[in-house]
Amino acid sequence: MFGDKVTSYKNIVVLTGAGISAESGVRTFRDNGGLWEEHRLEDVATPEAFARDPDMVQRFYNQRRAQLNTVEPNPAHTALARLQAEFDGTVTIITQNVDDLHERGGAEDVIHMHGELGKVRCRACAGVFAFHGDCDQDTKCPACARAPALRPHIVWFGEMPFHMDVIADRLEACDLFISVGTSGNVYPAAGFVTNVQAVGRAHTIEVNLEPSEGASLFAERRHGKAGDLLPLLVDELLRLS
Ligand code: APR
Repeated sequence: MFGDKVTSYKNIVVLTGAGISAESGVRTFRDNGGLWEEHRLEDVATPEAFARDPDMVQRFYNQRRAQLNTVEPNPAHTALARLQAEFDGTVTIITQNVDDLHERGGAEDVIHMHGELGKVRCRACAGVFAFHGDCDQDTKCPACARAPALRPHIVWFGEMPFHMDVIADRLEACDLFISVGTSGNVYPAAGFVTNVQAVGRAHTIEVNLEPSEGASLFAERRHGKAGDLLPLLVDELLRLS
């Protein structure tokens, strides 16, 4: 089932997307009823949108930040936390998600490549701060006290994802790459499966409700709900380790 290197995994990388949080009640982006049906991403998720209408952009992220208080991690998040705690090797979770459900599900060492709803950043002093309420153009930076200065600590379209150096190192060392709940539309994350195969050693598994854009790039594909499939996959990996 895991190819011919079943006993040799030492460095697992798991890439997650909005689908892993869907069963917690967080809306995905591109499914039926997804966020990009209701909002044009050009209106809320680009630096140009923020320059044009910062109030609207702040409202969009305030709503999403507030919604985090109403959702809980699901069995897919807790399964990955269990893998991180119990696997005899390294398990790196790289998430495109800006929610904190991996951490609340018990995971440590989560790389948020697209930022975090629970943080804001000061455009004046570059400080990054934990933030849990509503932010607007009058909210003063907790460090330099300027306003308007704070923006959501979110990577918008056209901006460079965070932590790409450490991500490149983890992908290079990885011998099992698992992608969970992502449609494979957004780069660079959608290209990670190709990156690990270029290095030549990694087995690759897609776990997604349906075949993603890049499904054919994966050596193994498991289609269904992450909350059903991931606990089983984690059991298999822990039996092997
Ligand atoms: N279990 C597994 N997969 C699921 C589930 C589920 N319960 N529910 C939905 N999915 C799958 C969908 O089939 C879809 O392929 O999750 C995927 C979600 O895809 P997107 O909505 O495109 O989300 P994502 O891939 O994370 O988007 C990437 O796009 O807009 C940006 O910055 C945003 O980080 C986001 C990036």
